[in-house]
Amino acid sequence: MRKRTFVLIVTLALLSWAAVTYHLFLQRPQGKAQRSVRFQEQLELLESELKYQLKSNDELLFLLHQFRSKYPDKIKNLKSLASLEQKYAPDFSNVVIGVLVFACNRVTVKRNLDQLLKFRPSAEQFPIVVSQDCGHEPTTRVIQSYGDQLTLIQHPDQSDITLSGKEKKFKGYYKIARHYGWALNETFFRFNFKSVIIVEDDLDIAPDFFEYFLATYPILHSDPTLWCVSAWNDNGKDSVVAYEPELLYRSDFFPGLGWMLTKSLWMELAPKWPKAFWDDWIRQPAQRKERACIRPEISRSKTFGKVGVSNGLFYEKHLKFIRLNDRFVPFTKMDLSYLKKDNYDVAFVKQIYGVPPVTLHQLQRGSIEHSEPVRITYENKDIFKKTAKALGLMDDFKSGVPRTGYRGVVSFMYKGRRVYLAPPADWKGYDPTWS
Ligand SMILES: *[C@@H]1O[C@H](CO)[C@@H](O)[C@H](O)[C@H]1NC(C)=O
Repeated sequence: MRKRTFVLIVTLALLSWAAVTYHLFLQRPQGKAQRSVRFQEQLELLESELKYQLKSNDELLFLLHQFRSKYPDKIKNLKSLASLEQKYAPDFSNVVIGVLVFACNRVTVKRNLDQLLKFRPSAEQFPIVVSQDCGHEPTTRVIQSYGDQLTLIQHPDQSDITLSGKEKKFKGYYKIARHYGWALNETFFRFNFKSVIIVEDDLDIAPDFFEYFLATYPILHSDPTLWCVSAWNDNGKDSVVAYEPELLYRSDFFPGLGWMLTKSLWMELAPKWPKAFWDDWIRQPAQRKERACIRPEISRSKTFGKVGVSNGLFYEKHLKFIRLNDRFVPFTKMDLSYLKKDNYDVAFVKQIYGVPPVTLHQLQRGSIEHSEPVRITYENKDIFKKTAKALGLMDDFKSGVPRTGYRGVVSFMYKGRRVYLAPPADWKGYDPTWS
């Protein structure tokens, strides 16, 4: 029965395609005068039909995967479906993603570069460019020791930045923003990459770091409501994650820490790139424009601690406990189209608001009879903060968005149970005054 439905869907899709082709190519333009107009019209028609067909193919493939996971045995013998899947599976062989490593004056960049080279599946697919600020010679020597496995570029602008009063102590942040602006221009406009993964010199990475970015590349480029893919889960502490490394999500919160962007996003941001605090700036509504990032359940990056501009205390209290994934997930062999907004949002809302609501107290007391997912509602900022703190989650907001939040919802594990910390179902959007 299911098999039949499927064959029917495939047949219908093929038939409609044939019909479109027939109409497009067999209708000849009549008068000579009208020819160019007709030609233009036909071209437009062809374009819109192509778009339509591509979308139907996507949908078909999505359905197919759903059937497959629901009825693995029944579908197994359907050879035509297997070959259809093969045909429409994304081809990653021509994808090139630049890897931009930011370095300054820490020779420990070696730890990061060793891992990048160890896990990089192909030098052609993932060319590494290390951009060094600061002109620190011991660090330069470390980077140069890798020879032609990577390309070293050096930030030419080493001029001092003059700041007054309170701003003085933020000089490090000004230098970082200036370096970012320059190096991203280099990688996108001179090296001409279509996509770049940004890595900082203090990151450990997971074995499937490159696999993850390669697999999400087509989605980032085809879904305009996405603007980044990040390796980082802000609530990635061992105590609040499920050990299901294949899980991926959409997030309204820009996570950073090992992240991929496209050239078109950089063209949009470059002319207005800020002088300092670029990460908070990028999270503002004027930049984010309601776009989301993809992030994993288990982080594919983890900072090994830095001395310098970042807060050492934050590392000791939080970053240290982030779990770094150690199991390779073959993402490029998996169907990730569920991450596209059109496929994701309806299922997401249905899932979150379909699970039983509980109070923080009930959850903590362990008085819930079942082990299914539950939802805790927060009506305002203070309840969110109090609840997040009690459950070991990050409790801050940037431009009104909680870390890892999607449509206001923060998803995490509590004593082996999936829990959603969620706003009421009639949520109207983020309030940028929440901080
Ligand atoms: C980067 O390039 C953009 C566009 O050409 C330009 O507006 C911007 O000033 C450049 N930024 C830096 C830091 O060179």
